[in-house]
Amino acid sequence: MPRSIFIGESFFCSPPTRNPPHENFRLPIGINCLHAVAMSDTAVTIAGTGSYVPEKILTNAELEKRIETSDEWITTRTGIKERRIAADDEFTSHMATKAGLRALEQAHLAPEDVELIIVATITPDTLTPATACYVQENIGARRAIAFDISAACSGFLYAMEIARKLIAGGTVHNALIIGAEKLSAFVNWNDRGTCILFGDGAGAAVLRKSQPGEGHILAMDLGTDGSLTHLLNIPGGGSARPITAENADEHLATLAMLGKEVFKHAVNRMKSAAETVITRAGLQAEDIACVIPHQANLRIIDAIADRLSVPNEKVFVNLHKYGNTSAAAVAIALDEAHRSGAFKRGDNIVLVVFGAGLTWAAAAIEW
Ligand SMILES: CC(C)(COP(=O)(O)OP(=O)(O)OC[C@H]1O[C@@H](n2cnc3c(N)ncnc32)[C@H](O)[C@@H]1OP(=O)(O)O)[C@@H](O)C(=O)NCCC(=O)NCCS
Repeated sequence: MPRSIFIGESFFCSPPTRNPPHENFRLPIGINCLHAVAMSDTAVTIAGTGSYVPEKILTNAELEKRIETSDEWITTRTGIKERRIAADDEFTSHMATKAGLRALEQAHLAPEDVELIIVATITPDTLTPATACYVQENIGARRAIAFDISAACSGFLYAMEIARKLIAGGTVHNALIIGAEKLSAFVNWNDRGTCILFGDGAGAAVLRKSQPGEGHILAMDLGTDGSLTHLLNIPGGGSARPITAENADEHLATLAMLGKEVFKHAVNRMKSAAETVITRAGLQAEDIACVIPHQANLRIIDAIADRLSVPNEKVFVNLHKYGNTSAAAVAIALDEAHRSGAFKRGDNIVLVVFGAGLTWAAAAIEW
């Protein structure tokens, strides 16, 4: 059922139609865009990726024993076969730290040289301080500014855009961005409509200015529709509906979702966000070596690939192993795709995500 991972064809990107490294930057006609990468000091590259998932595996077969469901139902409706569950004493910050250290190692960046840490999460260790502060302490990044953002499954790409702009603007030289979630702590394990979907994990990337000859982030697109907050949320545990002795049995601090509605919006928003960045980057669908979508549901992924006219073999899927890990999902997928050789330097890739809010985002990247 889960699809094999495509090892992308070599693609050296030098079409004359290619846009310059920053989508707001316009070149005089006749100037080769590849030279613009070297000339521009606003191009930002991904220098390293990392990920971490907890050891404990929860299979569909094990869920069959707990709730009224079946491996067949979960597999055909979602594509998920198993998910990872963090230990009781393993927090979001611990997973974020491990993923972050792996990304730093690959980027050859010492923790003490990190200048910015952003953790995207909806399952922070504590409401305050930010999970990023624990990560800063854990890795010894004493010079780094550290804060969290909450944009649900879109959080990693929101963090990417914030970091990109702060690097391009000269505020910082580099950034460690992390998507990390312990969703198992915010799932109602008696609700078969949601508990089968989610899992725990973390993914990370190191961003810095692009050097001559390196790839860079070509274009990004972010969006939000706050009129649809009711489709997917954790209704309790915040200041609007604190958990009290009276409502403790209502599972208010767990994920609630209108699945069919979410499905429909996910397909439409991810399709248009991906198309937007492909166009802004001056690319065609056939120029894309690898699409890395949010890992929520295989049927959603298939629908997007179909609408974008990207063959399934170029779409990276790992949700059969991890389920939906929200902000961590695209970050883990990016790391696994990178390390498995699904794309290589010079290839164009597209990341596209969708989540509660509703929020969505996409990035076109020349690797
Ligand atoms: C959740 C989702 C898999 C449900 O699939 P669906 O085809 O919409 O299924 P429905 O909710 O209509 O349920 C169909 C039937 O299956 C049942 N069902 C729900 N969960 C089930 C489970 N785990 N096992 C077995 N049956 C289940 C329902 O009760 C319903 O039964 P009924 O027809 O007797 O009422 C699907 O809507 C989805 O993936 N939505 C997007 C969710 C998502 O991606 N969220 C995160 C976004 S970041």
